Amino acid sequence: IKKIGVLTSGGDSPGMNAAIRSVVRTCAYHNIECVGIYRGYQGMIEGDFKEMGPRSVNNIINKGGTILKSARSKEFMTEEGRKKAHANLVDAGVEALVVIGGDGSFTGGLVFNKEYGFPVIGIPGTIDNDIFGTTHTLGYDTALNTVVEVIDKIRDTASSHNRLFFVEVMGRDAGHIALNAGIGAGAEEILIPEEDLGLERLLESLRKSKLSGKSSSIVVIAEGDKIGKNVFELKDYVEENMPEYDVRVSVLGHMQRGGAPSCFDRVLASRLGVKAVESILDGKSNYMVGLLNDKIELTPLEQAIKGHSQIDRELLRVSDIMTT
Ligand code: F6P
Repeated sequence: IKKIGVLTSGGDSPGMNAAIRSVVRTCAYHNIECVGIYRGYQGMIEGDFKEMGPRSVNNIINKGGTILKSARSKEFMTEEGRKKAHANLVDAGVEALVVIGGDGSFTGGLVFNKEYGFPVIGIPGTIDNDIFGTTHTLGYDTALNTVVEVIDKIRDTASSHNRLFFVEVMGRDAGHIALNAGIGAGAEEILIPEEDLGLERLLESLRKSKLSGKSSSIVVIAEGDKIGKNVFELKDYVEENMPEYDVRVSVLGHMQRGGAPSCFDRVLASRLGVKAVESILDGKSNYMVGLLNDKIELTPLEQAIKGHSQIDRELLRVSDIMTT
């Protein structure tokens, strides 16, 4: 292998730049060329490439977002789109790909590999932490820290006004952000898709909390929660059933995806980038690099896509005990 292409795809996450830097520099270390592909698979289709050397990734380890930009390409889902992308890679002499993204991005890589036999290695990059084969995806730790910092601020105003806040956090269909940031921020209740608390139990728990002398409360709700009401309907429901509560809603939104990556994410990105490139040089394809038991391990892409990243159920119990 003489030349590797690297791209970021799907929702951006803090640490993607650190991973790009690591891939580029590991290529340079092993004397192979590296090509940055802009806007994910869309840039591959349009031939939007740039040769990258170790100096083209100076001063990005601390930056959120992705210098290569990201996209969710509809055209890459078509055979025609993938054919164009393949022709562009061949023209540019690119012989293998490192795909930084989530399961949608990995699915694209896998289909591409099946059609053209093109070596692909995935690096898990998403704040949702919803990928099997790694305990942490890039950006998850940073997002947790961002969410905890913001909830701390919400707590100040919640307690000043004796209010109940519903704070909605991201995570797509997974509750990792809600569960961990909820415990970290001392939430009264945490609603996640993996565990249906039910409306009755929510009211029950809020009643208990009022009786125990708490004057304000924070309930963290994952955007993918299945309680059957969105966060605004939930506010109305609680106010109807418990008029003693003055309720407010805060939907944190895309701020959770931004900001400088934490040290944890920077170190993880650096390790994953090295392993991704060196796996390609070892002749590996169709694997994702991930963190398991503090080691960087390979998981077949197919498993990473199909497997379910489980929440730690013990955390539910911990959260319960903490709200005593
Ligand atoms: O996958 C990352 C994520 O931020 C999810 O948490 C969220 O559901 C989704 O992307 C939002 O997507 P978009 O940026 O396209 O609105």
